[in-house]
Amino acid sequence: MREPFRNEPFTDFTVSDSIADFQAAIRLVESQLGLEYRLKIGSDRIETATKRKSVNPSDFKQTVGIVSQADEEYAHKAILAAAAAFEEWKRVPPAARARVLYKAAAILRRRKHEFSAWLVYEAGKTWTEADADTAEAIDFMEFYGREMERLAEKHPLVPYAGEHNELTYIPLGVGVVIPPWNFPLAIMAGMTMASVVAGNTVVLKPASPTAVIAAKFMELLEEAGLPDGVVNYLPGAGGEIGDFLVEHPLTRFICFTGSREVGLRINERASAAKQDQKWIKRVIAEMGGKDTIIVAEDADLDLAAEAITASAFGYAGQKCSACSRAVVEEPVYEEVLEKVMKRAQALKLGLAVEQSTSVGPVIDERAYLNILKYIEVGKSEGTLVLGGNVRGGSGYFIEPTIIRDVAPYARIAQEEIFGPVLAFIKAGNFDAALDIANNTEYGLTGAVISRDRAKLEKAREEFHVGNLYFNRKCTGALVGVHPFGGFNMSGTDSKAGGRDYLLLFTQAKVVSERF
Ligand code: SER
Repeated sequence: MREPFRNEPFTDFTVSDSIADFQAAIRLVESQLGLEYRLKIGSDRIETATKRKSVNPSDFKQTVGIVSQADEEYAHKAILAAAAAFEEWKRVPPAARARVLYKAAAILRRRKHEFSAWLVYEAGKTWTEADADTAEAIDFMEFYGREMERLAEKHPLVPYAGEHNELTYIPLGVGVVIPPWNFPLAIMAGMTMASVVAGNTVVLKPASPTAVIAAKFMELLEEAGLPDGVVNYLPGAGGEIGDFLVEHPLTRFICFTGSREVGLRINERASAAKQDQKWIKRVIAEMGGKDTIIVAEDADLDLAAEAITASAFGYAGQKCSACSRAVVEEPVYEEVLEKVMKRAQALKLGLAVEQSTSVGPVIDERAYLNILKYIEVGKSEGTLVLGGNVRGGSGYFIEPTIIRDVAPYARIAQEEIFGPVLAFIKAGNFDAALDIANNTEYGLTGAVISRDRAKLEKAREEFHVGNLYFNRKCTGALVGVHPFGGFNMSGTDSKAGGRDYLLLFTQAKVVSERF
């Protein structure tokens, strides 16, 4: 019997051995910066004429890697390679497929800090954020492996005289996996390996800013013994190959995590049946959030401030689960604001590579400019009371920023900013706070900080988000513990890291035999 799933523990960076090990991993990765990465289609490694430089967001003069870029022709080849591999891979027994994931998880566990160091360099993650990302990638593989073994067990059907009836979950076919840059290891590995363990084959189009991490993951899959063609690595510009992959008649499903805009486009494009297409494509999309922490007047205000600060500024606010709105009952509004400001002020903005950094850079120039634009909008919609500035030099650094007295329907209270910008909103009472929390088109995460049982029970019923937390931060969902995914414009209501997830990558077949 395999051991039950347990979450991978986080590294304790107060231990000097852990610090030394992590520093050694940083040096190792530093010595490998600037290498070239090729496409991998079937067993072919392909260098293309067009290349993209992946840079360190803490210092954009530093090249992390140079990545070949696919065009439509290669995208077509990748789909064909995945379709060919599917004919073999779908016949591999589920338990054997799961073993590839366990092996990949074991290798990743051994090389944990090395992968985290790549996250530090390419995604601008602080040590602790990088460590959590790597741990989550391990978790996804351990969890989905077990889930596939569970799905492959005999499923009870109602007995029927004279017949033998059987239900099995079979794979779908070729999946196009389009992961985000903000959890470039965890979510990329989760979406890819959920597809794979269920018996599908994949064309993986990594997020452009973090294509090197995905290339390193490909190396790991090879080492774990995944046959060629099961995952095809196809970096390229979304504008160049995205629609083509989604619209290809051999694409059976698309698994996407990213913005609302791109998710809706994928959904629309996937819905039109092309010539020679034999199925309705399935779209699994996890999109944005405009996540709220409500603080009730009876709350432990230090706990509230801690939860808001961690949720708003962890990874510079670049999590879809990040708190971008603090909705506080009027009697405690000033006090909570003051406590959050004090904590946010103490956060150290700096290079991700330094252990003492608590907030690193934002991912790239486009994000940087977009966030700064929102800070300007915020200044006209409320009062800027903290941050708002950038740090000079060659990194995309934006200070933790707080804007107070924002109206519930202001733009910065409605639109996803994806940066270290927090709006404070005053609520007349708890019911009003709940109304504000529910007033966006999203429904991903939320939290309520309160000691009042009646308020918590009311929120349990009425706060319409996929992941609702009481008396804690609204980020940091753990695989298996907090199956993750939101409502409304936050996506297709899937739950990554939950028991329903693999069903999205399979179809059920019933065989009835009369004797
Ligand atoms: N799963 C992450 C979290 O909960 C967000 O993608 O923070």
